[in-house]
Amino acid sequence: MKRRVAILISGRGSNMAALIKAAAAEDFPAEIAVVISNRADAAGLEKAGKAGVRTVVVESKPFGKHRAGFEVALQAVLDEHRIELICLAGFMRLFTADFVQRWHGKMLNIHPSLLPSFPGLDPHGQALRAGVKISGATVHFVIPATDAGPILMQGAVSVSDHDSADTLSERILEVEHRIYPDALRLLASGQVRLEGDICKTVASAAAGNFLISPVVGE
Ligand code: GRF
Repeated sequence: MKRRVAILISGRGSNMAALIKAAAAEDFPAEIAVVISNRADAAGLEKAGKAGVRTVVVESKPFGKHRAGFEVALQAVLDEHRIELICLAGFMRLFTADFVQRWHGKMLNIHPSLLPSFPGLDPHGQALRAGVKISGATVHFVIPATDAGPILMQGAVSVSDHDSADTLSERILEVEHRIYPDALRLLASGQVRLEGDICKTVASAAAGNFLISPVVGE
């Protein structure tokens, strides 16, 4: 039985599209049952519709700071679609600790940095200002703290002296589109387990795989 997944978006939905594409494969252990946006103008809604995925808008704006009120409306949609797992994909709304607790171990997020470095806004700018030579993306379980929680998967790219926030974000986005479906596959097929703050995976790290940046020429 495929696990029933909801993807939550607020914007363009490129990670959403990558998840939908991966889940179209017959052997993928999860199906995207619904895409939910907290904004009616999210570009991702049209993409999801075109891909034949059900979409629902639960506007968060009318709730203002009343987060719990929004979450009641959201939970009703999740219940209606018998959702078992949630993937946040550019979802720009914080949850209450209660909601996060309710979905503990079942809600993933993707962030475009190698967490715990550079959480929060402008991670690409933060990485460039710190002068790191390697950055990347992280898929993690959601906990009440923002851009934190047990790390399920990470992917890295080298950072060049010529990078701008835009070029870096483009390259990291490619990694995001690769690791988010892979991470969901692992979770949906029961290949990960949480040990406190740590996520352990049946799949082990690729052996003998280095990413060194910058490369010293011969
Ligand atoms: C991605 O970079 C994701 O890591 C971050 O927000 C961005 C969303 O992009 N959380 P998209 O809507 O998936 O294209």
